[in-house]
Amino acid sequence: MDSSNFLIIGANGQLGRALQAKYPKARAVDISELNIADQKAVDGFDWSSVKVILNAAAYTNVDGAETPEGKDAAHLANTVAVENLAKVAKEKDLTVVHISTDYVFDGTKSPHTEDEPFSPINVYGQTKADADKALADVPKHYTLRTSWVIGDGKNFVRTMLELGKKGVNPSVVNDQAGRLTFTGTLVDAIDHLLTTKAPYGTYNVTNDGELASWAEITQNIFEYAGMNNTVTGVTTEEYYRGKEGIAPRPLQSTLDLSKIIATGFKPHNWQEDLQDYVRKELGK
Ligand SMILES: NC(=O)c1ccc[n+]([C@@H]2O[C@H](COP(=O)([O-])OP(=O)(O)OC[C@H]3O[C@@H](n4cnc5c(N)ncnc54)[C@H](OP(=O)(O)O)[C@@H]3O)[C@@H](O)[C@H]2O)c1
Repeated sequence: MDSSNFLIIGANGQLGRALQAKYPKARAVDISELNIADQKAVDGFDWSSVKVILNAAAYTNVDGAETPEGKDAAHLANTVAVENLAKVAKEKDLTVVHISTDYVFDGTKSPHTEDEPFSPINVYGQTKADADKALADVPKHYTLRTSWVIGDGKNFVRTMLELGKKGVNPSVVNDQAGRLTFTGTLVDAIDHLLTTKAPYGTYNVTNDGELASWAEITQNIFEYAGMNNTVTGVTTEEYYRGKEGIAPRPLQSTLDLSKIIATGFKPHNWQEDLQDYVRKELGK
């Protein structure tokens, strides 16, 4: 696929890096080159050579978004920014690929289908739901709804590997269920939708496989790393008791994958990808 007319936004995030690796001919911009929350910057950007916008930018600090400054920053990066992109895409007939999250739901249903009504329970989820609404009437849009993203950046697996190396036996939440999503899976899904010219709209995309809690995932991480650390499962309520500034989390993060699978896409098993990831992280 000719990617020379792709624009990767949020180039230095986990997904942005994976997109750059997949599409080396694409133009990639970080916030210093294009702050998409700034309408003047977006309007003044030279879009003449762009046909496809790959938006990997977001404010992803879920707890930070609960603070007054974080709330404003999340609203700007997650909602206003996407409204700006939606306007440009409509005016210039561009395709927009954007990433949403299971946090647009309250986590009471499982699995989440693409048409479940929004019901966010934290500020981050609200800002992401508002973005999904802004994209809904862009004629050429793919909104990929995902969860628990792991790539090259700060993420859960890296945090647990660091604790493991220090000999910590962590207490980890055991009542949130979902599946990890490796950035390679997201990039493959994006490439699949674009190359097959699948119908525009919203698609759930995560890795496939057994549902697991964070505690079970941590056990897998230690096992694959050959570490003997033990994991104590605790409820979300127990884990956050007495801690300030924590955003409520949905308990059910599992996304129904049947729509994207019906287009011919086969998501990898998360445990297989986790094994590869851990091996690479440890230089094995
Ligand atoms: N991480 C997860 O577990 C998870 C789960 C579900 C959905 N998602 C979604 O998946 C997508 C990718 O997430 P990720 O984990 O790759 O995020 P990430 O690693 O936090 O990267 C986000 C990037 O966006 C940039 N950015 C923030 N505001 C911007 C702005 N106004 N203009 C331009 N760039 C801006 C950030 O730059 P600075 O670092 O310089 O601020 C950062 O490089 C996001 O849409 C996220 O909401 C993530």
